Amino acid sequence: MPRKIIIDTDPGIDDAVALLLALASPEELEVLGIVTVAGNLPLALTERNARRVCELAGRADIAVYAGCARPLLRPLATAAAIHGDTLGERLGLPEPAMPPQARHGVDFIIEVLRGAEPGSVTLCALGPLTDIAMALVKAPDIAARIGELVMLGGAAFEIGNVTPAAEFNIHVDPHAAAIVLGSGAPITMIPLDVTHQVLSTPPRLAALRALSNHNGSAVAALLDSFEAARTNRFGARGTALHDPCVIAYLLCPKLFRGRKVNVAVETASPLTLGMTVVDWWGVTDRVPNVDYMTEVEADRLYALLADRLVLLP
Ligand code: BDR
Ligand code: CA
Repeated sequence: MPRKIIIDTDPGIDDAVALLLALASPEELEVLGIVTVAGNLPLALTERNARRVCELAGRADIAVYAGCARPLLRPLATAAAIHGDTLGERLGLPEPAMPPQARHGVDFIIEVLRGAEPGSVTLCALGPLTDIAMALVKAPDIAARIGELVMLGGAAFEIGNVTPAAEFNIHVDPHAAAIVLGSGAPITMIPLDVTHQVLSTPPRLAALRALSNHNGSAVAALLDSFEAARTNRFGARGTALHDPCVIAYLLCPKLFRGRKVNVAVETASPLTLGMTVVDWWGVTDRVPNVDYMTEVEADRLYALLADRLVLLP
């Protein structure tokens, strides 16, 4: 039976690829709904982009809910310089025809978790943790009902990609991250330490470009655009394919290795705001709260991506 998942996301280029990977894997993953959050782009765009991606995948039947339009306490700082209007301008995807859902995304998360067998629903967090934190504050009982929360965020060894200390998703809403990490829910964290091993090198991009279907070419074009934005900014070795790692983890956890540790988030210091403080060596008495991944078999992950994307239209 496929695993039931809710994807909370801020598409965003790598979010879009993650959504396509999930939608291409119906035998393993049943997407109960997609909830959007403000992050890479403002909510109105992430919500619209999520619907565009569903239509690109031929899955206009998926329900897309708008979640929170801004972080809990801080003003929204997007990554529009990287993610821009890639799905519209670069891919030429039209305005989506499928309607947005009227219900708030936070309420959707709560209702699904309360209505399902405890432990049977997995949350995938691909953006700032605002929606998930709001759901936990509004309905603390859901923490014990979450099967697993697999989240893209944080860093210990690769440190920050938005400040010298912080990863983007955590930095956008560090207070939400602190609530989620303190909730007691079972959490698997995929940090930059993993995603910086999953680089879109020329041979990996060529393999995606060689896919004969529309979605394969679309992902290759998206990653080219991601590459251009990141290279302009960092002069980098290749673009890290962040969010698809969360879906790849669900599809094939044995590609990843990590350690159960305590992770806390800095919410006060202006210098290190949003830093994930990972007790890798167990030097504190803080109780482990996260399965923290540090290694991945990147070639096999790209092969999985190509194998699945080709199943889409
Ligand atoms: C994360 O930040 C976003 O820009 C990406 O979509 C990813 O979720 C990586 O730091
Ligand atoms: Ca994201």
